Amino acid sequence: MADALKMRGVSKRFPGVVALDNVDLTVAEGEIHAIVGENGAGKSTLMRILSGAARMDRGEILINDVAVEIGSSQQAINLGIGTVYQNLNLITDLTVAENIYMNRFPGRGGLIDRRKIADGASQALAEMNSDIAPSARVGDLSVADQQMVAIARVLAYDIKILILDEPTSSLSKAESEDLFRNMRRLKSLGVSIIFISHHMDEIFSVTDAVTVLRDGRLVGRWRTDELDEHALVHHMVGREVTEMFPKEVAAIGDVVLAADHISVDDLVHDVSFCVRKGEVLGIGGLVGAGRTELVKSVFGACPRRSGDISLEGQPIDIRSPKQAVEAGIAFVPEDRRREGLITEFSIEDNISLGSIWDLTRHFAVDFKAGAKLSEGMIQAMNVKTPSRKQLVKNLSGGNQQKVVLGKWFCRQPKVLIFDEPTRGIDVGAKAEIYRKISDLAKSGVAVIIVSSELPELMGISDRIIVLNKGRMTGEFMRSAFSADQIMLAATGKAGTESPLPRGQQQ
Ligand SMILES: Nc1ncnc2c1ncn2[C@@H]1O[C@H](COP(=O)(O)OP(=O)(O)OP(=O)(O)O)[C@@H](O)[C@H]1O
Ligand SMILES: [Mg+2]
Repeated sequence: MADALKMRGVSKRFPGVVALDNVDLTVAEGEIHAIVGENGAGKSTLMRILSGAARMDRGEILINDVAVEIGSSQQAINLGIGTVYQNLNLITDLTVAENIYMNRFPGRGGLIDRRKIADGASQALAEMNSDIAPSARVGDLSVADQQMVAIARVLAYDIKILILDEPTSSLSKAESEDLFRNMRRLKSLGVSIIFISHHMDEIFSVTDAVTVLRDGRLVGRWRTDELDEHALVHHMVGREVTEMFPKEVAAIGDVVLAADHISVDDLVHDVSFCVRKGEVLGIGGLVGAGRTELVKSVFGACPRRSGDISLEGQPIDIRSPKQAVEAGIAFVPEDRRREGLITEFSIEDNISLGSIWDLTRHFAVDFKAGAKLSEGMIQAMNVKTPSRKQLVKNLSGGNQQKVVLGKWFCRQPKVLIFDEPTRGIDVGAKAEIYRKISDLAKSGVAVIIVSSELPELMGISDRIIVLNKGRMTGEFMRSAFSADQIMLAATGKAGTESPLPRGQQQ
C-alpha cells in the first residue's frame, strides 16, 4: 500500500519547551493510525503542523510521496487533510448547520442558502447516525454533540487524511462505537485516519498501527497487533505502571452532605443520596443520565426544582456556587474549557482565582501565597510547563486538566465533587490522580465522583449510586461491586438485587 503521508524530521520549539524533536510519522493509505503518548508528549502539536495551524521549525511533509508546504489550514484542506481539534474550534453562537458550513456557505446570488445548508447538515449528521437538529445553537449542545458537529463539519469536505485529536474524550461508549463505525467506513473508502486517544481499549479495537511519542521524541512505530496494552503503556511512559487503582481504605465517618429528594428540570427526578467523611461516592450512569445536573444542583450551579440539602447535619440553602464554596463544597467541572479555567490567564492566576476566598485577607489578594500554591500544584500534579507564568492556553490538553484538578488538591474542602476527573489524562498520570483522590478521602474529605468509566468508578469508589434517565436505579457497596449489575442499573434494567435507593426505603 502507498504511504498517504510521511512526516520526516519534524521539530518544533516554543519558548522554554521543545515540543517536537526530529519526529517521523508514516501513515499508509486506508490505515487507521494511532498516535499515543503522555500529556505534553507533542501529539497535538504534530497534528497542528500537519493541519496548517502551526509551522514547524524543521522537517518535511510528503503526501503520496510528493513534498508539500502546509502554511495555512486552507492549504491543508486543499491537500485533503481534515482536522477535528482537541478543543473543537466551534463557534458557539452559531447554529449546527452554520458551523458545519463555516467558510463555504453555498450561496444563491450572494445570499446564503439556508435551506441548502440545513439539508446538507442533516445529511452529514445522519451519516454519522446522529439526530442533532441543524438549527440548534452549538453553545446549547452537550460536549458530546459538539464533538459530533465538529466531526461532521470535517467530513463535509473531500478528505484523504482525517485527523481526530481525542475525539472520544467526551463521548459515551455508544457514541464512540458510532464514531468507530464511521472511521471504518471512511477507511474502506481509502481515507487514512490519524487517531489520538488515551483509551487503550480504543487503540486496540480500532487502529492498524501506532506511533508512540515521549517528551517530543519518537519512541517507535508498531503494527497494533504486534503490541499488547502492557507493552504499549510501557513504550508511552518508559516505566512500569504497576497499580492503576491504589485505593486505600479510609475510616468512613459521619454523613457530611445529604441531598434529599432532589429534582432538576426534567433531568433529575427525586434523587436522594449522602456522602460521609472519608468516603468516595461514585455516581455512575450513561452520558445524559442527569449526573452532572444532580451534582451541579448540589453546588448551586444548576437550579433545583425541589429538594433539601444539609451539611454536617444542618440544613443549608445553597443557591449559588459562591455560597457552596463558602460552605466548604468544591466542584471540579467536566468541561474545563468552559467552566474550569480562564485559558487566557497564567497557571498562577488560575490557581489564585480558585482560592480567592482563601487568599483574600484584609481585602488584598496575597500574591506570595498564590505563587507558592501554584508552584506546589505544578510539582504535585507533574504539570508539564516551563513556569507558573505560562498561559493555560499554551498547555497541552491533559496538562490543562491537571491544573483544574490541582486547584482543588491543594486545599481541604469538606466536600469535593469531581465530574469526569480524568478526561484527557494519560494512563500514567491517571494512576497518580487516583492516588491523590484516595489520599484526600483518607484525610477526611467527603469525595463525590461522576464518571462514565466503569473501571475507574469501581476502582476508586467506596460506594456507587447509579442514575438512569434522571432517576436513581441502584446503589452498590464496594464489597458488592459488579460491573454487570452496575451496567444493568445504568441502562435502567436492574434486577431487584440492588438495594432500594436511600429515601425510598420503607
Ligand atoms: N502555543 C504554545 N505555546 C507554548 N507551548 C506550547 C504551545 N503549544 C504546545 N506547547 C507545549 O508543547 C508541548 C506539547 O504539547 P501538545 O499539546 O502537543 O501535547 P499532547 O501530546 O497533545 O498532550 P495531551 O495528551 O495533554 O493533549 C507541551 O509542553 C505544551 O505545553
Ligand atoms: Mg493534545
